Amino acid sequence: MSATRCRGNAFPSYRPRMNDTALTVHQTARPYGFPTTDHFAVVESALPAPASGTALVENLYWSVDPYHREMMDDAPGGFALHTPLEGRTLGRVVASRTPELPEGEIVLHRQGWRTHAVVSPAEIRRLPRFDGVPLTAFLSILGGTGLTAYVGLTRIARLREGDDLFVSGAAGGVGTATGRFARLLGAGRLVGSAGSAAKVAHLTGEVGYDAAFDYHDGPTADLLAEAAPDGIDVFVDNVGGEQLSAAVGALREFGRIVRIGTISQYNTPDAPPPRFDHADLVEKSLRMEGFLVSNYRDLQDELHAFAVPHLQSGRLVEDTTVVDGFEHLVHAFLGMLRGHHTGKIIIRAESETPAPAPRGVGPELVAGPGSSGRA
Ligand SMILES: NC(=O)c1ccc[n+]([C@@H]2O[C@H](COP(=O)([O-])OP(=O)(O)OC[C@H]3O[C@@H](n4cnc5c(N)ncnc54)[C@H](OP(=O)(O)O)[C@@H]3O)[C@@H](O)[C@H]2O)c1
Repeated sequence: MSATRCRGNAFPSYRPRMNDTALTVHQTARPYGFPTTDHFAVVESALPAPASGTALVENLYWSVDPYHREMMDDAPGGFALHTPLEGRTLGRVVASRTPELPEGEIVLHRQGWRTHAVVSPAEIRRLPRFDGVPLTAFLSILGGTGLTAYVGLTRIARLREGDDLFVSGAAGGVGTATGRFARLLGAGRLVGSAGSAAKVAHLTGEVGYDAAFDYHDGPTADLLAEAAPDGIDVFVDNVGGEQLSAAVGALREFGRIVRIGTISQYNTPDAPPPRFDHADLVEKSLRMEGFLVSNYRDLQDELHAFAVPHLQSGRLVEDTTVVDGFEHLVHAFLGMLRGHHTGKIIIRAESETPAPAPRGVGPELVAGPGSSGRA
């Protein structure tokens, strides 16, 4: 087994030297603030052999997520150093010692950040087949990302037809799914915030938001007042911080705050917590509720029943940024934390990359169906 430290921006190309080599990303140090490639190493080892009752899976698509940053800290339940990282991934069974996992089957499991994994039937989820629905959807709009958006709207906000929404982090995976689902569920005015003019244009031009703003352009309270002059009924919060403070002020009576994430604070440990007028919660009868999607896995089939017909009819599309090559996984993760993507970021194995278009046609990094950008 050999480990290669990742230094600066020169994250080297980690291609297996032989067909029987597996690559695994380890965290090697605790970051303070934004992580860098110095906090990771890629470890090369012999291809693992499946024991009886297990199968060897070659991973094809990987998800990197903000919660991975939270798990990099020295906190209970976080990543141990110098051990394989975990994350959602889709892979194909390439060698099996159990009839329950036939070779060729595509499975979802949590041994991500590596090219190969040995799994037991209990550790995988079989994927239903839906005509016309791409595999990437099971990591984006039909996966944990879509489920988070769906739970936030239907169970936490208890969205009512005509409700006016503000969504922070609106151009990311959860944010784009929230906007598209809210539109299908009959929401009223949809306002989103994001980190660039291109993302703002994507929200209003593609996703179905009525108005959007770049939160760098001024105090959020002012930008929100301009975009939602009559106030909002629901705030779906992926970000926390100043955007949470502003939204409390903009909420109408009986408003709901859906606390999904706090990404504005994951890399700024010294940032003060957000301040807002607590009296607003009482005087406007507001409800603020957070949740973890892991407690709502039983709604997976309900999400499929809701979203798949819309995906098949074309009324719903997934927003993804697809990055090609396992060797770019760490960079994709670091870029995701800084917003270098639109929609759900997914890393795709070289073996799954479509054949290149004829010279002069198509982007350098090939994006998936419904894709919205390049990493
Ligand atoms: N509760 C749950 O069970 C659950 C499940 C999934 C995700 N989450 C949370 O939901 C949020 C979104 O997750 P995701 O997977 O969809 O990721 P994502 O939104 O696709 O990616 C993260 C985004 O955060 C934005 N961001 C980074 N720093 C920021 C800052 N200082 N202020 C404002 N925005 C910032 C960036 O977009 P910009 O370019 O717009 O800045 C970046 O694109 C995260 O907070 C995550 O932890 C929670």
